[in-house]
Amino acid sequence: MLKPEHKFAGADSAGYDRALALFHQWTHSLSLRRHAHAVEAAMERYATLWKQDVILWRITGLLHDMDYEKHPTPEEHPFVGVAHLQSLGYPESVTTAIMGHTMHGHTPRESLMAKTLFACDELAGFITAVALVRPTRMAGMKVKSVRKKLKDKAFAAAVSRLEIAQGARELGIALPEHIANVIAAMQHREARLQLPRAR
Ligand SMILES: [Fe+2]
Ligand SMILES: [Fe+2]
Repeated sequence: MLKPEHKFAGADSAGYDRALALFHQWTHSLSLRRHAHAVEAAMERYATLWKQDVILWRITGLLHDMDYEKHPTPEEHPFVGVAHLQSLGYPESVTTAIMGHTMHGHTPRESLMAKTLFACDELAGFITAVALVRPTRMAGMKVKSVRKKLKDKAFAAAVSRLEIAQGARELGIALPEHIANVIAAMQHREARLQLPRAR
């Protein structure tokens, strides 16, 4: 069994396994684990597309809400998690991106990784909500149907449409293309999302 309290020692497969153990230690709820893996999948796809450090980007997606279960208030999330990651020696690029994924973190999103995390967070949550009302879950999901649901204000009302649009804008990517990328990423990693079995 890996010790989650190990210091960060690099974004290799052992580093990923440590991050996963840390994540499991802090996050038990299925819906929050699902969300983290959805964001991780999106980060993985963009890192691959743009030839970035795939494992580092996956770790950032996986851990961005690691403190949310225990510390959900805007006073504590993501500050408690970031402080813990800093104490474990996680790189500044990771902690800064995590700080930047919330508006109240007041941290500018300067790196490509930070912009991507912000752009994928709400959208991955929204696409998960869409999957949960589709009998075939992620399979066959179309950009058009996600966009239609975005216009339906009553659907997944807690998800900020403004933040989704802002994220794509900051990333410099057209929203339909961004939606297509995140759908593809989540389809590729659907098993990790542990969605309830499709009918
Ligand atoms: Fe968050
Ligand atoms: Fe999140």
